[in-house]
Amino acid sequence: MVVQTLRSIGGYVGAVAGTPARVIAPRPPVRREYDETLRTLSEASVEKYFNAFKDVDWDAPEMAVAEDDERWILPPLDLLGAHPWYQSLPKARQIEVGRHRLTAMVKTGSQFEQLLLLGGTQFLMGVENGDPEFRYFMHELTEETHHIQMFQEFTNRVCPDVAGAPGWLMRTIPLVGHLGGLYPALFFAIILAGEEPIDHVQKEVMRSGGTHPLLDRIMAIHIAEEARHIGFAHAWLEEHAPDLNRVSRLALGVLTPLAMRLGADAIIIPSRADRELMGMPDSVVREVWGEGAEAAAFRRHLFADVRMLFDNLGLRTPLTGWAWRALGVDGRPARFRAAPPTAAA
Ligand SMILES: [Fe+2]
Ligand SMILES: [Fe+2]
Repeated sequence: MVVQTLRSIGGYVGAVAGTPARVIAPRPPVRREYDETLRTLSEASVEKYFNAFKDVDWDAPEMAVAEDDERWILPPLDLLGAHPWYQSLPKARQIEVGRHRLTAMVKTGSQFEQLLLLGGTQFLMGVENGDPEFRYFMHELTEETHHIQMFQEFTNRVCPDVAGAPGWLMRTIPLVGHLGGLYPALFFAIILAGEEPIDHVQKEVMRSGGTHPLLDRIMAIHIAEEARHIGFAHAWLEEHAPDLNRVSRLALGVLTPLAMRLGADAIIIPSRADRELMGMPDSVVREVWGEGAEAAAFRRHLFADVRMLFDNLGLRTPLTGWAWRALGVDGRPARFRAAPPTAAA
């Protein structure tokens, strides 16, 4: 009775003041399986975590960065590394362009993770007391701060000229951050749009034998912790997407492939500033990452897991499928999460 009265007063005061009415916070709902997943993720974050300056031996002799180190040459699995323009460059230029390209992806990854912090803290402002989402996601943001430190330190040491993310992304990051509070479902889809391509590329590079030991160490740490982050984004969407209204679901089904395409291109294709620094002609950019079959197949591979998730959630439907096709991120869904490329799309 007292509680109801207080809530009514709160509603009245809130309505008058134009602020959300909340005197006594509601208890978060009990979601047994989901809460168990969050507990497992949180405990794993406490048991296994990395510190950017303790767990990377930056000054070890084998980590030294030499300008003529051939391990910076791009492997053929990279679309640029396989292109005749790159392969015809003198070895010193291949090293220079390779070092710049790899660092540009690292720097863009760090800028993306800064966006995640920005939107992530806004998301957490809306999480109720007692909700285990708060604890786990705070662990995730803590880990991202170490990833950003690690990526920035790598950039400083390996190629400090690098620009990173394209200008349009840098200008929209403050706006996208607000989605963490306003439309968290799209925010979590955007997290996947950044994390899935980075994770995919890092795993491919490591499977093919790796690069320089400093980059390999950073990638190994990142792959280990991103598994939790990607797992949480999937779990959050599985838990909350079914509660969205029809308009929000439709918007999510259409805007997610847009986020995927923009996110993948921002991470994979060097920005104009970086292309100029690398001396890469525009025609090469078009041939490598344009509408060719190889570039299109590569892009589709990146999001097989997200397609599986959106199929399971009923968000990739005849009403939204056109957007996935138009944006070049359609294809077969993965059969299971983190499946190797041959088993996916
Ligand atoms: Fe990260
Ligand atoms: Fe992450």
